[in-house]
Amino acid sequence: MKIAIDGPASAGKSTISKKVAQALHYTYLDTGAMYRAATYLALKLGLDLNDASKISEHLAQAKIDFQPGPDNTQQVLLNGVDITATIRSEQITGAVSQVAALPEVRQTLVAQQRKIAAAKDIVMDGRDIGTTVLPDADVKIFMTASVAQRAQRRYLENTQKGMTSSLAEIKKDIELRDYKDSHRQVSPLKQASDAVLVDTSNLDIEQVTQKILAIIRQKM
Ligand code: C5P
Repeated sequence: MKIAIDGPASAGKSTISKKVAQALHYTYLDTGAMYRAATYLALKLGLDLNDASKISEHLAQAKIDFQPGPDNTQQVLLNGVDITATIRSEQITGAVSQVAALPEVRQTLVAQQRKIAAAKDIVMDGRDIGTTVLPDADVKIFMTASVAQRAQRRYLENTQKGMTSSLAEIKKDIELRDYKDSHRQVSPLKQASDAVLVDTSNLDIEQVTQKILAIIRQKM
């Protein structure tokens, strides 16, 4: 089965998708990490973030890999180098929507995502999985939560990691990223017409996981 999980920033997609994939023994693919890796590559090489052909040229030659890390985490490697923590930095988070809006970059990464998904049971999370990457997915979920909830969760997560951040600042960043992701020309963030809407505002991680597993099992 192919499971597509889309939704806005910080809705808990990767946490839940990972748990769902584990429960079903499916592969999990975090497509956001691929756009973050592309952004990291462009910044590292000092490329103009509007130069779509230069970025995609380098991206096509680069190798993005995923491997299991400690405590059920997934590590992201770019050309063999572990960039897992680096791609979560404020600098990458602030620039990723600009790079992800470039059509050539999307073309390159969508082709890689489809290749990874071929002939495999997979849970893939992102913004355009149900609409573009896997339009024939067996199950499509659009996961959302209020901006206030999403900002609060991200704030707690940052605090637990020892990062100091302002709740108001996080909320502003989430709103800006959602705006950019929903208003780009190519594959904007949008609920697929056949996706099931799951609002996680008043649910905890376990409740959301069980809810999505129940939706998937109905289709098995
Ligand atoms: O999921 P995450 O927040 O890590 O994604 C980072 C960014 O990557 C998103 O804000 C969006 O700009 C881009 N993205 C995308 N399409 C996807 C996944 C992520 O455009 N399928």
